[in-house]
Amino acid sequence: MKKIVALAGDGIGPEIMKQSLRVLEVVAQQINFEYQVVSAAFGGAGIDEVGHPLPEETLRHAKSADAILLAAIGGPQYDTAPVRPEQGLLALRKELGLFANLRPISVKPALAHLSPLKPEIVVGADFIVVRELTGGIYFGEHTLNEDSARDVNDYTAEEIRRIIRKAFEIAQGRRKKVTSVDKQNVLSTSKLWRRIAEEVAQEFPDVSLEHQLVDSCAMVMLTNPKQFDVIVTENLFGDILSDEASVLPGSLGVMPSASHSANGPSLYEPIHGSAPDIAGQNIANPVSMLLSVAMMFRQSFASEASARLIEEACDAVMNDGVLTTDLGGSATTTEFVDNVIWKIENSEVGNG
Ligand code: IPM
Ligand code: MG
Repeated sequence: MKKIVALAGDGIGPEIMKQSLRVLEVVAQQINFEYQVVSAAFGGAGIDEVGHPLPEETLRHAKSADAILLAAIGGPQYDTAPVRPEQGLLALRKELGLFANLRPISVKPALAHLSPLKPEIVVGADFIVVRELTGGIYFGEHTLNEDSARDVNDYTAEEIRRIIRKAFEIAQGRRKKVTSVDKQNVLSTSKLWRRIAEEVAQEFPDVSLEHQLVDSCAMVMLTNPKQFDVIVTENLFGDILSDEASVLPGSLGVMPSASHSANGPSLYEPIHGSAPDIAGQNIANPVSMLLSVAMMFRQSFASEASARLIEEACDAVMNDGVLTTDLGGSATTTEFVDNVIWKIENSEVGNG
């Protein structure tokens, strides 16, 4: 019996979580996957319930989970709160040692017209941002004084080595190219980063390594995103570059992500945020959340077939023209998921 911890969080979080658990149930029945879902308060919901974005009980459940699904956290009502929902997320990453954040980006031809870039630039783009998630400036010393402020960017060689290795391992299963992104013309942490990247590259003679400076990489992502296969970078650069990358597919609503530790449970979540402006209206695009469930099946439960079933059902429903409003359609969240479930149950996909 696998324990899946569901952190619905805030905004559209609860509605997309609820819908994704329906899909999880249908897929689980098909493959006789035995599981229990434990829902726990997190983010703003944790603040509302017990005054903390990462309640102790939630952390306890997360630590004993086989996998964690997170929908989204945050909202304007917490802007002036003494603790913010985001602090819960950072604490959860640190507590679980989720150092490797994988954000795959691909542009589907059917949605390319929604991209802010020309189709000839984006169609065929298919890369993954591997972001270091538990070090760097996010977790260095933060000091805020009246007239000065300071945030420290720290990295050890070992922290850099393990994330770069992860990127190379992923590249081995893809097009065998790693782009390591840094700012080594200015930062010491980046000089160390580049040296370690060169060292790790020696362990992977079948994978090629190139270096890009983060500012130039941001440009190339808009002019020639097809040149990337695996991008690996530090926490802050990865935050920024992955948001930039996430607009290439035309909607924030279609991209999942995974965060892994050395040997504990992994966490799966959409790339998008809590979208408070559309919360509670049943119009949010559930695809990112559904694809996060697919990633969970593939990466935590070694069920490639279940992952494919969900991914292909989502694609098929979108190709049928059943689209939520962010993709120019009028389907509700529930309608979209009803269609996904129908595809899975009457599957031309997966079963064959
Ligand atoms: C992300 C988010 C978080 C981050 C915020 C919510 C703290 O932007 O997951 O990319 O900066 O890491
Ligand atoms: Mg971000």
